[in-house]
Amino acid sequence: MTRRFGPGPRLRGRLRPGADKSISHRAALLAAMASEPVPIRNYLRAADTLSTLAAVRALGAIVEERDEELVIRGCGLRNAHAGDGVIDVGNAGTLMRLLPGWLSFQSGESFTLDGDDSIRRRPVDRIAEPLSLMGAAVDARDGRFPPFTVHGANLTGIDYELPVPSAQVKSCVLLAGLTTDATTVIEPVATRDHTERMLMRARAPIERIRIDGGGLRTTVHNADELELDPIDVPADPSSAAFLVAAGVLVEGSQLVLEGVGVNWTRSGFLRIAERMGAIVLSELEPPGSFSEAEPIADIDVRHGPLEGTLVAPGEVPLAIDELPLVALLGCFADGETVVHGAQELRFKESDRLAAVVEGLRGLGADIEALDDGFVVRGSSGLRGGRLDARGDHRLALLGAVAGLASAEGVEVDGFEAADVSYPGFDGDLQRLSG
Ligand code: S3P
Repeated sequence: MTRRFGPGPRLRGRLRPGADKSISHRAALLAAMASEPVPIRNYLRAADTLSTLAAVRALGAIVEERDEELVIRGCGLRNAHAGDGVIDVGNAGTLMRLLPGWLSFQSGESFTLDGDDSIRRRPVDRIAEPLSLMGAAVDARDGRFPPFTVHGANLTGIDYELPVPSAQVKSCVLLAGLTTDATTVIEPVATRDHTERMLMRARAPIERIRIDGGGLRTTVHNADELELDPIDVPADPSSAAFLVAAGVLVEGSQLVLEGVGVNWTRSGFLRIAERMGAIVLSELEPPGSFSEAEPIADIDVRHGPLEGTLVAPGEVPLAIDELPLVALLGCFADGETVVHGAQELRFKESDRLAAVVEGLRGLGADIEALDDGFVVRGSSGLRGGRLDARGDHRLALLGAVAGLASAEGVEVDGFEAADVSYPGFDGDLQRLSG
């Protein structure tokens, strides 16, 4: 589907953006692992997180859909059963990498996971390696790609230093560690910590400490069962980021985004945007917090001038999904905006580094790819034109916001990809444009 966006109109008003995808995935998975029913409010009903509900149903959990909430009656930690078929993860990389953590200790059961064309290009060796070290066998196509089969086993604890900064890999190993004496994940650079917070709330034995250089060390121990109080999913800071960028870039805009998750491991983009002069923040969670809650805040956004900035590798995991928007802001900023340490973007739903650079250049940006990021020379804005979403939800939404901010508007080919994380985007945009 091709959709045209912009130029303009200005955005005004208040709203709560779509629910958090990362937290919704984890809520469904941990509820499915729990012993008692778990109500989940504001669960994200988007393609990715519907794949997670279908997956936990296939494993034996009961999902009751009510108007205001979902209730998941789980299988318990050790009682997931492989049904007859393949578990279809659709387009959801988070589901594909987290679920095997749970499946890996279902001793005597084997589970095959597969997904769409994009998922079949995404590596799973990054989880197969630690799971094999723990004693579970993982057979993947060419040793690296879906479809792949996880053979559950009695696991042994490991100390594992993440070779790539990935919250998905960390989460997989921590979930697998729940039936070991002790499993430790060392992350040299901090990544999003929703799994750890939810495990703390599920009363799992978990310890977290900071290490030199900004990293974290997390240990989990044997858990008999998980117990979760009702979960309320905040608005997704990654979805909100598209509206933040639109509000900053479209003249005359002034809006308030309500109830947005401001967990410090997700607020990298807001901090970068603040440094560029885009917004003024008051209520972000202080970096380094080990709170078990997911803090929320309202974000005030208004149109204004921007300065280029340098994004260092240590900031990248905390803004990984919003880096396309840093590039877009960079097109409208004075001076250069440079991002380093973002090579992981090549392994997202598309080669997002190439897609952002080629996509924005096609709209008139002065942008170049680096081995590990990009450099944008800003200030002349964007002409507009056509952008192919390449089946990647974040590119579809990037194209839409680029269109609003551009001089001539943007046609986004494959805009339906936005439904993977933010199916309500169009409606939200219409409400804000009055
Ligand atoms: C996610 C982690 C990130 C992010 C993805 C969601 C998660 O991936 O890009 O959209 O929910 O854990 P990596 O952890 O692989 O970097």
